[in-house]
Amino acid sequence: MECVEDREALHGVAYKGTGESGDSCPGPTGRADDAGHVNGDSIIMALEDWAVALVVIGSVLAVMCLLSFVYYWFVLRYRVASSSVSMKGKTIIITGASSGIGKATALGLARRGARLILACRNEEKTAQVISEIKQKVPQGPEILYRHLDLASLQSVRKCAEQITREESHIDTLINNAGRHI
Ligand SMILES: NC(=O)c1ccc[n+]([C@@H]2O[C@H](COP(=O)([O-])OP(=O)(O)OC[C@H]3O[C@@H](n4cnc5c(N)ncnc54)[C@H](OP(=O)(O)O)[C@@H]3O)[C@@H](O)[C@H]2O)c1
Repeated sequence: MECVEDREALHGVAYKGTGESGDSCPGPTGRADDAGHVNGDSIIMALEDWAVALVVIGSVLAVMCLLSFVYYWFVLRYRVASSSVSMKGKTIIITGASSGIGKATALGLARRGARLILACRNEEKTAQVISEIKQKVPQGPEILYRHLDLASLQSVRKCAEQITREESHIDTLINNAGRHI
């Protein structure tokens, strides 16, 4: 019959014997009747092992979160999609270019040489955007404003008719205008 030392080595936990008949291992009192007793120290040691493991895992996760945040804040936030492909000779319509993504797209395409038609509902705001882009890209091609209010089908038809009448062709239509909810 295996005894205390053998079972401790096997299970990694202090073992004091079951006291069952035939068990040659005595309990903490040294008597065979203190059945199934595991002493308090061994429980505390097992809990301490778990606590250490949790602290280590928590620390690793916290460091990973911190590194991800730093990477996002200092690197990803400033990364802008870019391309060196020339857009010279292309005519592109961008709806909703008076702010946000549309405005940024207009600037990016102007830098790459595209001729732009900004289809927007606010003429004053769009004129300001055109002037900003022209300041940043002085050698850039033409940028036109065309009135388009997508909330009015009449305005949509009018804008489409005007562009069809004026332009020989359109290379790209960027349907950007809208609200992000
Ligand atoms: N920002 C995001 O995280 C995100 C994520 C997913 C999708 N999107 C989509 O990307 C597009 C642009 O987003 P954004 O963040 O750049 O929005 P934004 O800054 O609010 O710009 C929206 C643009 O759409 C124009 N617009 C709104 N309603 C219009 C209408 N009835 N007729 C004509 N123009 C109109 C606005 O004109 P005014 O200047 O006159 O208001 C503005 O130029 C939206 O379609 C949005 O749903 C955005």
